[in-house]
Amino acid sequence: ESTTELDITSLEAGQSIKAVFRKQPVFVRHLTPAEMQAADAVPVDDLRDPQTLAERTIVGHENILVVMGVCTHLGCVPLGAAEGENKGEFGGYFCPCHGSHYDTAARIRKGPAPKNLEVPAYEFTSDTTLVIG
Ligand code: FES
Repeated sequence: ESTTELDITSLEAGQSIKAVFRKQPVFVRHLTPAEMQAADAVPVDDLRDPQTLAERTIVGHENILVVMGVCTHLGCVPLGAAEGENKGEFGGYFCPCHGSHYDTAARIRKGPAPKNLEVPAYEFTSDTTLVIG
């Protein structure tokens, strides 16, 4: 059994980090208020894979988004988790393989991917420590 423990003390709003969970990339993003508002402003029924930001985060930690860095189209690693990378047209993540754009809640908004980036099982063991898996 493998879990990944991350200290996000230094993860500032607007920043993402890449980690590894079960040999796959995982992205942890500290959303800004504007990024949260952008996600909440989208009518959920308009989404290809309808989920709210609240459904994709943990109560009390809605500003921390944890997703697998695996495009749901054919499995490429999307861009957007490192500084200066292309975040796509919706400010989240962009998969350069065939052009899938994910929004600030890592939901698919444009391009061939069928599903949102997957949220793995995780929990907070302190305000700044999260354990994935
Ligand atoms: Fe990401 Fe095809 S693998 S768009």
